[in-house]
Amino acid sequence: MTQDLPTLILAAGVSLCVFAGLLVSCFQRYRAFRRAYFDDAPIPMLIEDWSGVRSFLAALRAKGVTDVVAHLQAHPDLVRDHRRYHRFVDANDAVLRLLGARDKVHFQEIAPQLLPANREIITRVYQALLDGKVSAQGERLLHTIDGRVVPVIWRATLPSSGDARRILFYAFDVSDQKRAQEMVLNARGDLAHAARVSTVGELSASIAHDVAQPIAAIAASAVAAEQWLLRAEPSTDRALNALYQIRRNAQRASDVVGRIKTFLRKAPKRTTTSADALVKDALALIDSEAHLYDVTIRTLIEADLPAVRVDEVEIKQVILNLALNAMQAMAQAQMSERVVTVAVCDKERDGGVEVQIRDNGPGMSEETLSRIFEPFFSTKEDGMGLGLVICKSIINSHGGDLSVVSVEKLGTIFRFILPYDRQMFR
Ligand SMILES: Nc1ncnc2c1ncn2[C@@H]1O[C@H](COP(=O)(O)OP(=O)(O)OP(=O)(O)O)[C@@H](O)[C@H]1O
Ligand SMILES: [Mg+2]
Repeated sequence: MTQDLPTLILAAGVSLCVFAGLLVSCFQRYRAFRRAYFDDAPIPMLIEDWSGVRSFLAALRAKGVTDVVAHLQAHPDLVRDHRRYHRFVDANDAVLRLLGARDKVHFQEIAPQLLPANREIITRVYQALLDGKVSAQGERLLHTIDGRVVPVIWRATLPSSGDARRILFYAFDVSDQKRAQEMVLNARGDLAHAARVSTVGELSASIAHDVAQPIAAIAASAVAAEQWLLRAEPSTDRALNALYQIRRNAQRASDVVGRIKTFLRKAPKRTTTSADALVKDALALIDSEAHLYDVTIRTLIEADLPAVRVDEVEIKQVILNLALNAMQAMAQAQMSERVVTVAVCDKERDGGVEVQIRDNGPGMSEETLSRIFEPFFSTKEDGMGLGLVICKSIINSHGGDLSVVSVEKLGTIFRFILPYDRQMFR
């Protein structure tokens, strides 16, 4: 028995040593594990203590606040106060590298300034805590000590026990993805822009085409004004009328030139307007030509048409070009009765308001009809052969199509759809 006591003491000592050894080994293993899975992990990881927040949430609930998220929205100051209930516990090396901190002590100094309470994160984590979820995630911008801004996707793992003392936050740097995304978006914008710029050549031709007519009208009106004033009995009324025509046509020429700006801008110009007013405005501009070609312009416009969303200057150009072609066709064929009818009606199944420009002129042969949308195709001595090309491209850019039906000796109908203004048309 007396021999047993030292044996027992020895045995106890050995067990203690083994136990201590085990403890040390466990601790070392834990350290190694922690080093591998936290400190040295390549993903930025941050441990935060939100237990104060839990108590704060519980206190709010006790005060009768049931929707804490709405409460936060109504009291933005609480977002700032959040830091009072919260503590940064630890950050791994990847966080230090990301933010530019020298070491963990430095991190604790700069964290409150670089990682200010973020409304979106707080709302999401509060909501997740309230709903008993085990994770929450979102996006935010991180500001580093050297002034860089890094977009990250963050994810918080929330303990299912409800103990919020160690909430682990991961951050995934998504700068490269964002840059790639931006490049794709910019490239898409640039491409659309480049496509528009590449039509500048086409556009210059179209401007030359569309400006030629108002300039000719200005010159004719100026001659008329001079003649009315130089008469033995000058007519100031008529001269004034000619001056008015000059002013209108000058405005028209300037509108056409203004189109270049629209083309070169990144976004096309669209306004909400009435097809009725648009047609009437356009036709008012070719009064003098109607007179010259001895043509009657008839309008058949349905009442209460829905609003359309278009580029007004462009659509007026289409109406003008088509009406001029109709008049010129009738003049060439020496018709006895010359009527151009412009009909406007609602075409719900086509998603817009239809405009038709009809004439009772000579119509077109099949050969002509098959070529009218070719650039520089013209059967006229002084025709540029661009009018219809321009019209088609304008209508296409409005999402529609310029269609034509023509029967020799009977006449021609051009039609197109002006798209509804979807916001107004419900
Ligand atoms: N209403 C019409 N009736 C008969 N032929 C037409 C009609 N509209 C167009 N055309 C034919 O289509 C051709 C092409 O028309 P487009 O407007 O593109 O050019 P253009 O009138 O000849 O010249 P410009 O470029 O000066 O307008 C015309 O030359 C003509 O032969
Ligand atoms: Mg023409």
